[in-house]
Amino acid sequence: MDGELCPESPVDLLCEYSVDPIGMDVLKPRFSWKLRHRERGRMQMAYQLLVSSSEENIIRDIGDMWDTGKVISDCSVNVEYAGKNLESGKIYFWKVRWWDDKGHVSPWSRIAKFEMGLLSLEDWKAKWIGGGKLLRKSFILRKKVKQARAYISGLGYYELRINGQKVGDYQLDPGWTDYEKIVLYTTYDVTVYLKEGENVVGVMLGNGRYNVKPYRRGSHKHYGEPRAILQIKIDFADGSQEFIVSDETWKAADGPIIDDDIYDGEIYDARLEKDGWDTPGYDDSTWRNAKIMEQTGGKLVSGATFPKIRVVKMLQPVSVRNPKPNIYVFDFGQNFSGWVRLIVSGPGGTEVRLRYAEILNPDGTINIKPNRTAKATDIYILKGEGIEVYEPRFTYHGFRYVEVSGFPGVPSIDNLQGIVVHTDIELTGSFLCSNQLINNIHKNIIWGQRSNLMSIPTDCPQRDERLGWMGDAQLSAEEAIYNFNMATFYTKWVRDIKVAQKEDESIPDVVPPYWSLYPADPVYGAACIIIPWYLYVYYGDRRILEENYDVIRGWVDFLNTKTEDHILKFSKYGDWCPPGQIKSPYTPDEAVSTLCYYEVVSLLSKIARMLGKIDDANKYADLAEKIKEAFNRIYLKEDYYMFLKDALDPILSITYSQTINILPLYLDIVPSDKRESVIKKLLDNLIVTHDYHINTGIVGTRYLFDTLTKYGYAEVSYKIITQTTYPSWGYMIKEGATTLWERWEYLSDSGMNSHNHIMLGSVDTFFYKTLAGINADPSNPGFEKIIIKPHVVGDLTHASASLKTIRGLIVSKWWREDNSLTLEVTIPVNSRGEVYIPLIALKNPVIKEGEKVIWKDDKFVQEIPEITFIKKEENHIIFNIGSGSYVFRVVGS
Ligand code: BGC
Repeated sequence: MDGELCPESPVDLLCEYSVDPIGMDVLKPRFSWKLRHRERGRMQMAYQLLVSSSEENIIRDIGDMWDTGKVISDCSVNVEYAGKNLESGKIYFWKVRWWDDKGHVSPWSRIAKFEMGLLSLEDWKAKWIGGGKLLRKSFILRKKVKQARAYISGLGYYELRINGQKVGDYQLDPGWTDYEKIVLYTTYDVTVYLKEGENVVGVMLGNGRYNVKPYRRGSHKHYGEPRAILQIKIDFADGSQEFIVSDETWKAADGPIIDDDIYDGEIYDARLEKDGWDTPGYDDSTWRNAKIMEQTGGKLVSGATFPKIRVVKMLQPVSVRNPKPNIYVFDFGQNFSGWVRLIVSGPGGTEVRLRYAEILNPDGTINIKPNRTAKATDIYILKGEGIEVYEPRFTYHGFRYVEVSGFPGVPSIDNLQGIVVHTDIELTGSFLCSNQLINNIHKNIIWGQRSNLMSIPTDCPQRDERLGWMGDAQLSAEEAIYNFNMATFYTKWVRDIKVAQKEDESIPDVVPPYWSLYPADPVYGAACIIIPWYLYVYYGDRRILEENYDVIRGWVDFLNTKTEDHILKFSKYGDWCPPGQIKSPYTPDEAVSTLCYYEVVSLLSKIARMLGKIDDANKYADLAEKIKEAFNRIYLKEDYYMFLKDALDPILSITYSQTINILPLYLDIVPSDKRESVIKKLLDNLIVTHDYHINTGIVGTRYLFDTLTKYGYAEVSYKIITQTTYPSWGYMIKEGATTLWERWEYLSDSGMNSHNHIMLGSVDTFFYKTLAGINADPSNPGFEKIIIKPHVVGDLTHASASLKTIRGLIVSKWWREDNSLTLEVTIPVNSRGEVYIPLIALKNPVIKEGEKVIWKDDKFVQEIPEITFIKKEENHIIFNIGSGSYVFRVVGS
């Protein structure tokens, strides 16, 4: 075999989307790998995967747990384990090799690992304990430690410490769940923290969402007193084992954290620190015995494959001002989620107060209205010993400004650092174009999205909510997926949705249901289908559809009980937050609900068909048809969708809604003879009535740009998106926004004016999908097929985007010169592309790929085997391409 042509070994080996996870509890984990090849146009023809119970075996190519043999398949994503039973606490090794479509085999990949957690309740020898915010246990190890694991959960939050050190770098762990249903535990490799002789393990506990402040218990679900469960399994070099488990022999005490609350902040009295409490030799004779606590009801579930919250960045303040005597306001120049680090020295007992805010009053003091009842205040009481450094542990804030009062002396810019904290999710997308405003909107969306990933997708990070509002999340999910690797984050949240479903099949507006809002508004409830669907489309995840099929069908059947003549007579929020309003006066709620109902029912039918549930597929297809007919019968009047005046408040005269005209176009339910007039009226309204501005809330906004692209009006989208007058994203930026607002207005005097909401961030997909032109194809999920269809609009001279997908890197990058356009495309190995080359009205276009002409005199020139011609459209020429990198250049004469 010619060495040059040999496929390279697979890379980026993932098990359940994770790199070498430890402590996981998925009994049939799925494996994915990426392929590289020096040749273009290569597919995987076959693979072989080995799973071994020991490193020796895997090195010797012995798959004693599972040897797939040579499997003829192009599947390189989510290959499901089908070997021997996996056991609690065991480490398994795996590797894979592949054959390309010419039959050449690659070398084996690197050896990857996965380790199982505690798979059954009996594996837990530890007990839940509490009785203080500090828990400790001293123990002696008499032998050399080979390997040690700690399995821990602490509710609401814990910090695990061994021999004076914090274990790992996770913050605000475990992730939020409904603790009556699921409690996540975390597995740490603690081998290096232990030693022969005396060791001390300490746990600090925070309230989190478990122990809710009494005055919030009316609305927020309260669970109980903080508690922890911990089990350390130690394997010694001589082959023996020992367990250290939380039980009544542990000691408990109160610590320096006097109060902690996610909304109100933390009060920390450094004088109450118990020096050395988590190190050997400490005298704990004054400590109480720990209390045995009840299990919370929730099942202990491994969080191993879910992404963790971490400190991801530090920000220096850009200024510090002194608007009033002894009041200092630090500006970080960026709205974000997290907290600050305070560096201070002064007399013991001095109380430094840090108040967090998103915006300022005209006099330069902080405006805390957007926080509502969240006190968002950290208080640090000095010990009085040299330089003291403080960061809160069990709270977080959404802010750009911090007001410091009580500081001993005059603080300088060096006394505070911004600590950016959120779920640490890999940024997998990048976008850049020649329009700076668009780049800024994109940047604000990235900050906004990050601030709202806090183990669940939140609505906002600053006020007394920070909840998993499902409408916000599902409407921005595609944006999130284009920018970040969301696979495991959403997998966790979809499970949260599943366990939140009630017996009557209803699901709530917020998940986990810390606010018990059942049943969800139909737009919000749609998350139960939209998010699994995207996981399927973008990550090729079929299992999530199988596992959640009953949830989805249940929810649809629940909605069925709320219809009259197929119109969904149930709504709570409608097209939430259009310009000037919270609830839309221009868009009838029932119409939004019914359109969403149609979307969900037709998607359910499609999923049923895919999963081979043909009866359901037909049943829901029929239902979708009936909803469509009913909707058109009621709302389609003459040449556009309007709502019934008499059903309206008589003082409202506007009867045109952009939203109820956008969605039918998007969903393809407009009868063909009316399509043109519906589009025309929509364009008229956008362009003439609103001078290229939206008049939509979160629902209409989500679908507007996809719809305009679909019908050939990307130019109109571009004009709307690059507005700087109200209402627009550019307007927010002009008014100083560094994230996205909840409302189209600035509003300094209302509690409904979060300055860091993500629900209007759906616009970001226009940059990727329409401008750079990277699109998935739902019939070939997981980017098996990629549609590259860039739009050269407005004054744009270039746009580029890249996505690190489950199959590898996708790039689309174009730039235009006077008489030419260049388009660079990269398609991962084992994927194929359909490329639309824009003709930008060039005369007699000649297209080259690299140095070779592929289109001339209006004809395809078959020069390159990886490129085949599909068809010519008015503005594009369409080719099929194989994997690899291509440089297309169109030149006019
Ligand atoms: C939240 C939202 C949510 C809405 C629904 C608000 O308070 O912040 O973003 O979608 O309520 O009513």
